[in-house]
Amino acid sequence: MNVLLLGSGGREHALAWKLAQSPRLGKLFAAPGNPGIADHARLVDLDAADHRAVVDFCRREAIELIVIGPEAPLVDGLADNLRTMGYAVFGPNKVPAQLEGSKGFTKDLCARHGIPTARYVRASDRLAAEAALPEFSLPVVIKADGLAAGKGVIIAETEREALGALDAMFEGGFGGAGASVVIEEYMTGEEVSFFVLTDGKAVVALGSAQDHKRVGDGDTGPNTGGMGAYSPASILTPDLEARVLDEIVRPTVAALAERGSPYSGVLFAGLMLTESGPKLIEYNARFGDPECQVLMMRLDSDLLELLDAVARGRLAESEAPRLRKEAALTLVMAANGYPGVPEKGGAITGLEVAEASGAKIFHAGTALQDGRLVANGGRVLNVTAVGREVAAARAAAYAAAAQIDFDTGFYRGDIGWREIERLEGKSPG
Ligand code: AMP
Ligand code: GLY
Repeated sequence: MNVLLLGSGGREHALAWKLAQSPRLGKLFAAPGNPGIADHARLVDLDAADHRAVVDFCRREAIELIVIGPEAPLVDGLADNLRTMGYAVFGPNKVPAQLEGSKGFTKDLCARHGIPTARYVRASDRLAAEAALPEFSLPVVIKADGLAAGKGVIIAETEREALGALDAMFEGGFGGAGASVVIEEYMTGEEVSFFVLTDGKAVVALGSAQDHKRVGDGDTGPNTGGMGAYSPASILTPDLEARVLDEIVRPTVAALAERGSPYSGVLFAGLMLTESGPKLIEYNARFGDPECQVLMMRLDSDLLELLDAVARGRLAESEAPRLRKEAALTLVMAANGYPGVPEKGGAITGLEVAEASGAKIFHAGTALQDGRLVANGGRVLNVTAVGREVAAARAAAYAAAAQIDFDTGFYRGDIGWREIERLEGKSPG
């Protein structure tokens, strides 16, 4: 089967690496891809925003499955157009992708179907938003409705901060994403990510993970796309996972199918485990990055079979995904300056030595310059390893990272700390 994979990050490198292990794979193309993905796929210069060009490419190369990695093309309706042309696509259509594309869409769906989430108010102008503020105690959470690359959420500790956040959003600080806001109750608890595959009918669990969003050790400093992750997250016990499926994920998938816009792809639920049970923070319509990297390291099943079954609506008939019991952990090497303006062009060496111990290095933001590997983005490499439990995976990942020379980069020293403290019997701070 010939496959086209869209995207260029560490998530897509992990997907390409796993797809390449499938005996059913014919040719794998990636657009635009990256130097790591080039080990498994032919890189093509295709703009995912140019739907016509993507369709033409698929026809020319006899593509049988298109895997869409990032959210932007999904929210933009690329999957709809490909499906209309008869292609099998992994990734939801435009309307169901609103689960990620519009926070208000998701909140309204939760409200209609009794899905546990933070209490909220939607507002599409400054006045209405300000009028709703007294309904919430502090801290209060203010979110831009649309896609804001992880930057559209402000947790305001004071009324002044809340008003400032509303100003920023309605004055266009978040582009179109802030034309409408969601104000919601602040929830406390531990966060966990949960992934399912669904073709709109069947729902199968793919596993849990925990991300590290802050740039600095001890969860300090500004938010990032994610500085590291591990899987599984033991805090999501089998009982809690069953509740998440019954109370949150299945009702969501059923609601979208009922309204005639079934969700097909991977559904990524960001959850808060509160005292009164698991609650939805947000959905994403794609794999998490770097969560995907640890899930792929644990997946024993044929990824191509799974993605193809989802794309063709045959998930119920296919074998459920098998995940290794071992833990996987990935740490993100970022370029100095990230999450602000990252330094580009820094030399990277030592990857072969780092991989010799069995670790896997996924490329997230690299480029080749005169045959040399250099940094070309904020998040640059994902150093990933498996181990019997998370402490062993962590030791292996950090040992591999120590072999890499990347003078203009940095990484957190404490990825996995919550899980390790939990397993050691201490309560995380
Ligand atoms: P989101 O982009 O919706 O995932 O929000 C980003 C981060 O903001 C989440 O990972 C949480 O850490 C935090 N957050 C979002 N909504 C809430 C909420 N209602 N209560 C507490 N924290 C939240
Ligand atoms: N790592 C979080 C995300 O992919 O949204």
